[in-house]
Amino acid sequence: MSSTLFRTKKVEQSILDTEEPEHALKKSLSALDLTVFGVGVIIGTGIFVLTGTVAKNNAGPATALAFVAAGVACALAALCYAEFASTVPVAGSAYTFSYASLGELPAWIIGWDLVLEFALGTAVVAVGWSGYIQSLMDNAGWAMPAALGSREGSDVFGFDILAAALVLVLTGILVLGMKLSARITSIVVAIKVTVVLVVIIAGAFLIKGENYDPFIPKEQPVEAGASLDSPLIQLMFGWAPSNFGVMGIFTAASVVFFAFIGFDVVATAAEETRNPQRDMPRGILGSLFICTALYVAVSIVVTGMQHYSRLSVDAPLADAFKATGHPWYAGFISFGAAVGLTTVCMILLLGQTRVFFAMSRDGLLPRFFSRVHPRFKTPHRPTILLGVVIAILAGFTPLTELAALVNIGTLFAFVVVAIGVLVLRRTRPDLHRAFRTPWVPVIPILSVCASLWLMINLPAETWVRFGIWMAAGFFVYFLYGRTHSRLAKGEETKPEQTL
Ligand code: ALA
Repeated sequence: MSSTLFRTKKVEQSILDTEEPEHALKKSLSALDLTVFGVGVIIGTGIFVLTGTVAKNNAGPATALAFVAAGVACALAALCYAEFASTVPVAGSAYTFSYASLGELPAWIIGWDLVLEFALGTAVVAVGWSGYIQSLMDNAGWAMPAALGSREGSDVFGFDILAAALVLVLTGILVLGMKLSARITSIVVAIKVTVVLVVIIAGAFLIKGENYDPFIPKEQPVEAGASLDSPLIQLMFGWAPSNFGVMGIFTAASVVFFAFIGFDVVATAAEETRNPQRDMPRGILGSLFICTALYVAVSIVVTGMQHYSRLSVDAPLADAFKATGHPWYAGFISFGAAVGLTTVCMILLLGQTRVFFAMSRDGLLPRFFSRVHPRFKTPHRPTILLGVVIAILAGFTPLTELAALVNIGTLFAFVVVAIGVLVLRRTRPDLHRAFRTPWVPVIPILSVCASLWLMINLPAETWVRFGIWMAAGFFVYFLYGRTHSRLAKGEETKPEQTL
């Protein structure tokens, strides 16, 4: 049985499958489109909201170092993703890479994990977006009825109608086609990057040196050591839980990691790229580099404008300007954040439908979901199904505590991809790799260690939830995927069946 669980799908077969007429996606994206996509999905709730939370609770002005630490972990993973995406340019990202290198069961697990990452990620960002819109509406004097407003911290039963509506509208746009989505994305990304640059440039003139003192605040003990809220590492080693200090920087890094999520989504668009061998690595590494630079600059500026202990946790960037007497900038930033979060949601949704599509094309989920729309050439069925489920999820649930689940799921995928690079180098040294991860095996091993390190800095209860989702995944695989897998049935696409 173990031989069937670890059966691998040949890279050549994965590429051939993409050429079956009924299951083929349109190839229309360039390196610039990919970078715009990357920046569009990466810059979001992480920088607009989490910067304030972690500066206030975990790291103070050293939040900039937390961004550097998380950025380094992501860069290591990005080098591994770039090799895979340029070698196996097929929809499905880490799922497809694992199928080619580690086998069917690991691939299924990673696909299941990515569905969790993208679904919850989309919902978390939609809820954040709804919060910004409501704050703009409040400024204009229109209040949302409590039952239709944000579920965050609310004890009234209700449905966050704005968050759900956003997800449904984006679902419609994605069904209509990639090119349309890419065009809308470019405009929104331009607005978002402008807002971030305004924060950096205008904020730089409002910095007060004394706010950086001390740059790394002294460690402070916190209550409730053995509870499941504590980072796993503290429970593992029986440490007294604390905030700030050097360890606080790592706790902050495991939280702000959310701000980097998305560069891996670029890889899910590999199959829709005109020249994936050349453009994938450029898109992935380029967008990651741009975002890291912006994040570090924003966190240095914001913690310099306002003392970290006084930063707001809801809208830290806008509120820092309000606090320094510049409410006009604050309104502009809130507007940019609200506009910017729409693309984050849209691309996370896009990434998820592509993973689902790839899993269905392989027969691990019903094949019904991988028939593309005859006119729009998009996988409309999984897009609509997942869009509706996520809209309901976003409407009913206050999701901040689930954001950590998104991080653990993504970090787990990074670990698997890095191991996959090592395995595929050994099992298929003959494959043409347009981009090669440098210093193998050092970089993939460092990538595994960095991701694991951030994972153990997440709360223990996040690990428990993650374990439950994964156990459900095993159940579904043994109930459906194992017997319906096209690889198991020997139903492979033949060259004469392709376009
Ligand atoms: N990186 C994305 C964000 O920060 C998911 O919202």
